Amino acid sequence: MRDLYEVMFRRRDVRAEFTGEPVDDETLGRVLAAAHSAPSVGMSQPWDFLLIRDRSTRQAFFDHVQQERAVFAAELTGEEAERFERIKIDGVLESSLSVVVTYDDSRAGPAVLGRHAIADAGLYSVCLAIQNLWLAATAENLGVGWVSFYREPFLADLLGIPDGVRPVAWLCLGPVTDLQEVPDLERHGWRRRAPLANFLHDEKW
Ligand SMILES: Cc1cc2nc3c(=O)[nH]c(=O)nc-3n(C[C@H](O)[C@H](O)[C@H](O)COP(=O)(O)O)c2cc1C
Repeated sequence: MRDLYEVMFRRRDVRAEFTGEPVDDETLGRVLAAAHSAPSVGMSQPWDFLLIRDRSTRQAFFDHVQQERAVFAAELTGEEAERFERIKIDGVLESSLSVVVTYDDSRAGPAVLGRHAIADAGLYSVCLAIQNLWLAATAENLGVGWVSFYREPFLADLLGIPDGVRPVAWLCLGPVTDLQEVPDLERHGWRRRAPLANFLHDEKW
């Protein structure tokens, strides 16, 4: 029990600390099995996991991420722009491999038990698989970095993802030198984790 809390609090989003060393198949298998054990609405298991090691695919994605970084940077001015300049937003090329997690809303359908009123419940399920993967990887002393600086049609085209299936996350994965104690965005003065008390409501909002 204490171990689980320890892993939760030790987990970080990793960009700069990947070593690039390989992840052995057994370890990767355990991490993916943890992801696949996540709860899902109506037991729909709407996820797929694409393992990407190919250098040219990762380079193509990295180039796209740089373009999207520039799109975001163009929205910023002054100090904020300067701060963003210093923040690394991905470890696509430095990590050992990437795992792209997708969402298929036709899986187990059309009558998905528990999704009739909340279409997003399918997407929530995929995010739970991602969080399981992230925690399991942390327990295995691996780092994970979620990259969302991309356009979905670009990624779908790059990876041959069929129509109707949405890419939800590009996750960089691999051994790390260490995990930062303080999140990168906090260290760079972008944003801090606020106290839990700010988010608690008694009885009503
Ligand atoms: C949906 C999602 C998308 C994210 N996209 C990016 C990203 O594109 N680049 C990046 O550097 N971090 C990304 N992050 C990581 C967050 O910046 C990070 O979780 C947050 O700053 C808190 O730090 P921590 O995860 O180390 O606790 C993403 C996280 C989530 C949950």
